[in-house]
Amino acid sequence: MRPMVLIIQLLLLISPSKSKATISSVNTLPGCQDSCGGVPIPYPFGIGRNCSMSEDFELRCDTTSNGIFTPHYLPDSFMIMDISLSLGQVRVIDDPISYWCYNNKTKKNNVSNWELDLRGTPYRFDHVKNKFVVIGCDTLAYVNFTDNQNSYLGGCVSGCYSPESLIDGSCSGIGCCQTYIPKGTNYISFWFDDNFNGSEVYNFNPCGYAMLIEEERFKFNKEYITTNKLVDKNMSVVIDWAIGNTTCDVARTNKSSFACKSNNSICLNSSSGPGYLCNCENGYQGNPYLEEGCRDIDECANQNQCFKPGKCHNLPGSYRCSCSFGWHNKNNNLRECELNLALLIGICAGVVALSFLGLGTYVMLERRNLSKVKEKYFQQHGGWILLEKIKSNQGFGFTIFTRQQIEQATKNFDNANIIGSGGQGTVYKGTLRDQIVAIKKCKMVNESKSKEFGKEMLILSQINHKNIVKLLGCCLEVEIPILIYEFIPNGTLSHYIHGKRQGSCISLSTRLRIAQESAEALAYLHFSASPPIFHGDVKTANILLDQNYTTKVSDFGASILASTDEAQFVTFVQGTRGYLDPEYMQSCQLTDKSDVYSFGVVLLELLTRKPAIDVHAPEEKRSLSSRFLLAMKEKKLQELLDDEIKHEDDMEVITAVAKLAKECLNMKGEERPTMKEVAEELDRIRKIKQHPWGQEYYSKEREILLGEASHDIVIEHTSYFSIDKGEAEESLAVGR
Ligand SMILES: *[C@@H]1O[C@H](CO)[C@@H](O)[C@H](O)[C@H]1NC(C)=O
Ligand SMILES: *[C@@H]1O[C@H](CO)[C@@H](O)[C@H](O)[C@H]1NC(C)=O
Ligand SMILES: *[C@@H]1O[C@H](CO)[C@@H](O)[C@H](O)[C@H]1NC(C)=O
Ligand SMILES: *[C@@H]1O[C@H](CO)[C@@H](O)[C@H](O)[C@H]1NC(C)=O
Ligand SMILES: *[C@@H]1O[C@H](CO)[C@@H](O)[C@H](O)[C@H]1NC(C)=O
Ligand SMILES: *[C@@H]1O[C@H](CO)[C@@H](O)[C@H](O)[C@H]1NC(C)=O
Ligand SMILES: *[C@@H]1O[C@H](CO)[C@@H](O)[C@H](O)[C@H]1NC(C)=O
Ligand SMILES: *[C@@H]1O[C@H](CO)[C@@H](O)[C@H](O)[C@H]1NC(C)=O
Ligand SMILES: *[C@@H]1O[C@H](CO)[C@@H](O)[C@H](O)[C@H]1NC(C)=O
Ligand SMILES: *[C@@H]1O[C@H](CO)[C@@H](O)[C@H](O)[C@H]1NC(C)=O
Repeated sequence: MRPMVLIIQLLLLISPSKSKATISSVNTLPGCQDSCGGVPIPYPFGIGRNCSMSEDFELRCDTTSNGIFTPHYLPDSFMIMDISLSLGQVRVIDDPISYWCYNNKTKKNNVSNWELDLRGTPYRFDHVKNKFVVIGCDTLAYVNFTDNQNSYLGGCVSGCYSPESLIDGSCSGIGCCQTYIPKGTNYISFWFDDNFNGSEVYNFNPCGYAMLIEEERFKFNKEYITTNKLVDKNMSVVIDWAIGNTTCDVARTNKSSFACKSNNSICLNSSSGPGYLCNCENGYQGNPYLEEGCRDIDECANQNQCFKPGKCHNLPGSYRCSCSFGWHNKNNNLRECELNLALLIGICAGVVALSFLGLGTYVMLERRNLSKVKEKYFQQHGGWILLEKIKSNQGFGFTIFTRQQIEQATKNFDNANIIGSGGQGTVYKGTLRDQIVAIKKCKMVNESKSKEFGKEMLILSQINHKNIVKLLGCCLEVEIPILIYEFIPNGTLSHYIHGKRQGSCISLSTRLRIAQESAEALAYLHFSASPPIFHGDVKTANILLDQNYTTKVSDFGASILASTDEAQFVTFVQGTRGYLDPEYMQSCQLTDKSDVYSFGVVLLELLTRKPAIDVHAPEEKRSLSSRFLLAMKEKKLQELLDDEIKHEDDMEVITAVAKLAKECLNMKGEERPTMKEVAEELDRIRKIKQHPWGQEYYSKEREILLGEASHDIVIEHTSYFSIDKGEAEESLAVGR
């Protein structure tokens, strides 16, 4: 008899199991030793009867040599290298090996035969991994394979004539022979043939061997022939095991004896014989033979589990990859993500469509809104009346421009296009219908005034005078109507006489011409327009000069139309300091005489080339008109006059203008001459200047009027012009 336990050192041939740590905690029954000599012992195996499922799985741990164990009842003992629950296999160290050695003295063989009987146990030799191998140069070994029903006789012969013929790693009959074993084998015995006694090869091959080994772990070596090293080799055999001797279906009928205890376990028929095995379901790991032994695998612990744009979600027994936005699970495969092209395209298309829709809606609403607003303003400003009139009056020369046209012409009211700005508004230069125009945007307009705008436009548009800036059109689609005038290139009179070119000489006759032309224009407004138009803001800044320095009175658009219903128009006047009629300041009643007063100041500016208001001067000298009146009184007009025109020859003309200016600046509006009279007087003065010989004639006239031949001053005979003698003498004194 062999000893029950062979003391062999434990082999740690198993690879360090990653599951070792996780399994150990749930791998045995409570309170049981979970390993021996570093080898884990999972249930149904166990050390001691109370820790194993049955006595078939009861192992002994040899503590004296740190980890020798064996199914306790076997006739032979094995050292178990590792146990696999899922495969239902144990790997044991292959021992002993049968040998057959020739003794040259006795001429006999020293024989060690081998037999292992596993019948009646849940164990059998694995027919896939194990092979029956014979090694030697003159060896024939027989084998008896027996399973539960049958027994088979097999054999393998190995021969060679010299060690040179041997090939390492090759087990094909030369020095090494191997054969399969039948399925379900649970009894094996082998023996040697006497006729292959090794006497012929004794000198180089002392022994022949027969063994059952795990093929994968064995590799033939020439040394095994020439030496006895093979005996010391640690070779392994794989033994299958199963639970019971029935199939799963049968076993499952008895719940209490069914070994697959874990909820997430499955039962498998044993592939090597009767009985069944338990496994954990896919997605679970652990010990299926224990309740709660199969534990869910956290697949997401492996960070690369999901294809990159996905987020891993562990599920019981499974996992799912939720894909990032724009990705989706590939073909119902919850574990892989792929680009969701359809969605992406859809989203892109959607975004584009939405933005178009949004833009479209916005533009539409904006347009509708704008056109509503435009229409409101258009109506408010009396646009319809105006339009009707224009239609019924062909060749009218007046246009109602759209807001869009104006915005285009001014490049959306670009500051670069501003040519002037003042209290009333801003004037832009622009091009409309290939014509350079001045576009005036008023700052504000009175509500009641605004209602009459269309009507006023109609009247203003009919004004056609060579010395009046032509109103070309208007735009009513805005809150404050915009006026479009012809563009006058040479700027304002104010700039001409007070501007940077001040050093340049402006002749008296030019000044007279400008004065007369301006007066003509105003007289036209007062007497020829129907209804009469009061300018309301006569000043040098509103007198423009065109390319030929022809005078063009402008800005009467902001003026007041004379109307029988005065209350209607009286509220809106925008005079300018220095020009404003003092009477108007008291009565708030704008009259034609207010324009006359303002024109008087213009005349003074032409004579003196001094601003209407000198803000740096002391209070009493600030206004040009008061300085002038003071100078007249003190007969110091000479000091006030512009040096350029102070020629002795022209004194008569200058005096006449000064006299006229004084009349215009009369504090009482009634006593001022009308604009028509002023224009006529200026015309007369110009004629004197141009044709001094005509002086006689006028002198005669004057004599008739004043009864004095000695006076230099020339005053036209008019019914409205009454100059008392004293004043005439005063003027004469100035003239001298
Ligand atoms: C066989 O196993 C023993 C004990 O584990 C060891 O010392 C020896 O090196 C092994 N031999 C081979 C060839 O692996
Ligand atoms: C096994 O358990 C039984 C009762 O369950 C007990 O009587 C017996 O002593 C135990 N045996 C060992 C070796 O622990
Ligand atoms: C038998 O073996 C012995 C020692 O092993 C050796 O000395 C002797 O020569 C051998 N005899 C023959 C016939 O080979
Ligand atoms: C060994 O075998 C040979 C033939 O192969 C035979 O002649 C011889 O007698 C045998 N020796 C023994 C001891 O059996
Ligand atoms: C033969 O067997 C015996 C006992 O089993 C042993 O003592 C002896 O060493 C063996 N001889 C050879 C050559 O193996
Ligand atoms: C094989 O061994 C078994 C068990 O010892 C035996 O019953 C059977 O007859 C043997 N078969 C042969 C062919 O030797
Ligand atoms: C199956 O095993 C039971 C005991 O575990 C035994 O009584 C029965 O005879 C066995 N059946 C077969 C066909 O081996
Ligand atoms: C079920 O198994 C238990 C224990 O293994 C046994 O006591 C019982 O008799 C079995 N029942 C049936 C119906 O086989
Ligand atoms: C196993 O499943 C049963 C029924 O499905 C349930 O009652 C029991 O709680 C489960 N056990 C565990 C540990 O989940
Ligand atoms: C086990 O074997 C039986 C009989 O061959 C068969 O009906 C059953 O489906 C098998 N079960 C499994 C899980 O393979």
